[in-house]
Amino acid sequence: MRLHEPFIRWTGALLLLCPYIGAFQYPSKLDVSGSLVVEQLLKLATFSDVPNPAVTRIVFTPNDMKARAYVKDLMQLAGLTLREDAVGNIFGLLAGDGSAEGLVQTGSHTDAIPLAGAYDGTLGVIGGIAALRALSAAGFRPRRGIEVIMFTSEEPTRFSLSCLGSRAMAGVLSAETLARRLDENGTDFLTAATAAGYGRGSTQAMLDAARVKPGSVSSFVELHIEQGPELEANGTSLGIVTAIAAPAALRVRFSGDGGHAGAQLMPRRNDAGLAAAELALAVEAAALGTGAPDTVATAGRVDLAPNTVNSVPPQAAVEIDLRDVDESRRDAVLAQILAAAEEIAARRRVRLQTEVANRDAPATCAAEVVAAATAAAEQLGASHARLVSRAYHDALFMAQIAPTGMIFIPCRGGWSHRPDEFASPAHVELGVKALALTLARLAGAAGNPGKAEL
Ligand code: GLV
Ligand code: MN
Ligand code: MN
Repeated sequence: MRLHEPFIRWTGALLLLCPYIGAFQYPSKLDVSGSLVVEQLLKLATFSDVPNPAVTRIVFTPNDMKARAYVKDLMQLAGLTLREDAVGNIFGLLAGDGSAEGLVQTGSHTDAIPLAGAYDGTLGVIGGIAALRALSAAGFRPRRGIEVIMFTSEEPTRFSLSCLGSRAMAGVLSAETLARRLDENGTDFLTAATAAGYGRGSTQAMLDAARVKPGSVSSFVELHIEQGPELEANGTSLGIVTAIAAPAALRVRFSGDGGHAGAQLMPRRNDAGLAAAELALAVEAAALGTGAPDTVATAGRVDLAPNTVNSVPPQAAVEIDLRDVDESRRDAVLAQILAAAEEIAARRRVRLQTEVANRDAPATCAAEVVAAATAAAEQLGASHARLVSRAYHDALFMAQIAPTGMIFIPCRGGWSHRPDEFASPAHVELGVKALALTLARLAGAAGNPGKAEL
């Protein structure tokens, strides 16, 4: 018994000190108000091309510029140091003590697809600012600087390519690819960015300027609504993401000879619209055919021309989005859809053009970020589960330059990309606190380097 006494005394002393050490390293008394963050999200939602609750906010439009100004105001009010890069990514920095290399970054996007809601992406920006403000208000001084980012154009709405800001930062976007993506008015990204006060002399110069220097980011973690039903259905408060599914996009164009809807008899027709309809069904069959729930494929856009009731459609353009956490399985489905398009075109005697518009690799989240987020969830006493992100995020590209992870909160019904998108203030608050604690762990505490490391 006597042998154990020193050990017991030590353990007792440590236990007594624990709340103090815990508070010093990773402040748990974080001042975060879920309802204030939601109020800010709803204010941001008012910068919209359509009446709320729906939100439409397309990159570099007047409402996007108003949203940018609001985000910059919030960053400044939180005491962060502002900067913007050549593609319009906006950064707010909580400075570190300079004793460790690389920034810990967080963030997401504020652009919104047509008729979206108030939470997709915006939570990671407004919530990221709230997390940094809370850390600094708690007296936490990080070793590494912590930076919140509002990424430019995560949504592909205007330039038909997702995650433009994070692709540019990661240096995986070529000038040729970007310059070819024109909006519906024929404007290229450089022209739109320049009009918004960003850009450089050429697309290449702009991308070179936005690319981050190797080693300058030590880790990245993004807070987001789940956009799926798992957390809510299981009554789990936080999702710790382990992988991000790999998206690909395919464009198919069928061309027939058209003709008068009354006078062109059925045997003579080569209706491009019907080829598109068949292809949409083939897309569904290909995804279901893998038998894996992680394979999803969507013919989300079908444009008929001239789109008139008394014309046999001579033109049909189909845009297909497909994703999987398993890249080779996703590519096999892509090949199957391309084969189906050829078979349909031959059988229906329509001409065919296809373009694989985008094909990204999936990302695996870094063990150290997953561990930091898990420790943060546990510190908060929050139920948590590991899950896969089936949507893409800027984190997919940040994972190419730094150890990366994501934290999800539940959203009502698992719905997203809809005006009724909703997350409760309580979950918003928990998510922001979990983000703050995760960032603190990844950044380390100034003056306490050894103890602040996980
Ligand atoms: C992003 O919004 C996506 O489509 O996953
Ligand atoms: Mn989205
Ligand atoms: Mn998003």
